[in-house]
Amino acid sequence: MAVVLGIETSCDETAAAVVDDDFHVISSVLESSIDQHRAFGGVVPELAGRAHVATIGPVVRRALDGAGLDPHDPAIEGIAVTSGPGLIGSLLVGLSAAKGFSLAWGVPFVGVNHLEGHLFAPLLEQSGLEWPLLTLLVSGGHSLIVLQSGPGHHQVLGETIDDAAGEAYDKVARWLGLGYPGGPEIDRLARTGTPGKLKLPVSMTGSDYDFSFSGLKTAVVRATQKQSDVGLADVAASFQAAVAEQLLRKLRSALEHYEVRGIALAGGVAANSTLREGVARLADDFGVVSHLPSLAMCTDNAAMIAAAGLYRLRADGPSPLDLPATPNWQLADVS
Ligand code: KG4
Ligand code: ZN
Repeated sequence: MAVVLGIETSCDETAAAVVDDDFHVISSVLESSIDQHRAFGGVVPELAGRAHVATIGPVVRRALDGAGLDPHDPAIEGIAVTSGPGLIGSLLVGLSAAKGFSLAWGVPFVGVNHLEGHLFAPLLEQSGLEWPLLTLLVSGGHSLIVLQSGPGHHQVLGETIDDAAGEAYDKVARWLGLGYPGGPEIDRLARTGTPGKLKLPVSMTGSDYDFSFSGLKTAVVRATQKQSDVGLADVAASFQAAVAEQLLRKLRSALEHYEVRGIALAGGVAANSTLREGVARLADDFGVVSHLPSLAMCTDNAAMIAAAGLYRLRADGPSPLDLPATPNWQLADVS
């Protein structure tokens, strides 16, 4: 059986994983430098890059050991590495490491789009996926609705015109004096609050599939100043409901226009409880299957990069050794 080694270093997670060609995860290792960034309220690119340099070697070693593989094992068909989008100083570490391993071990490597990696995550957790699939990909850096006719075949229907959903969570959390990252904390608080107590405007009601979250963040700031008697849990619940409402409304209208077999959630914000419940309900309404990822599969990981890399390696062949890192690589430009 052939396997692919995946490497992911696009942001603050240093990750390596081994996935076989049936999309089974054999090993998956992750180290995050998030503790170094908390005090700054966001990822500090230089610190992230330095952490990757220190961690990448041991993380790859552990992933190989966990899979019982020697680096020269003939089962290793290739190395898949995130080459964009992401922080340039972080991407360069993983990409350079992958090129070095490729040369040293004599195996091909392939550069993978990080967002396409997220789209492959459901294949690692569900067997017998049925297509087409509508995927809502929401993270700290991206928010997109994607129509997938099959693995590796996708059309971006809409995306955020300003902040990503996770970014809005992090900014609102910062305004409320909560820690970084803000998503998990707001989600936890929201469970004990009442949505609608803080009056917030309904945003992005247009008929397209694009999102906007920066106005909502400003609205939370204004509304909390005006309605200073609304408690923290109610603020969290009101904001969370407004984010979910916008995402779910766009998903609903995409479901009305495109015939699909399932809805998938992906990215860090896919961990959000209100969003998960909403997607499950929407899937019921339309009689389609909902694919809600495990929490480990929501966050960045190397197994999803290995899965996308396996597909790309077989469909397009290996990448050249002079492949650059592409910090702004759009999913729509991946063919
Ligand atoms: O995908 P991810 O791990 O990293 C990238 O941005 O690529 O996503 C992290 C984002 C952060 O903005 C974090 O606040 C958000 O996901 N997040 C959540 C939840 N858990 C993490 N947002 C809302 N609710 C959550 N439960
Ligand atoms: Zn991501």
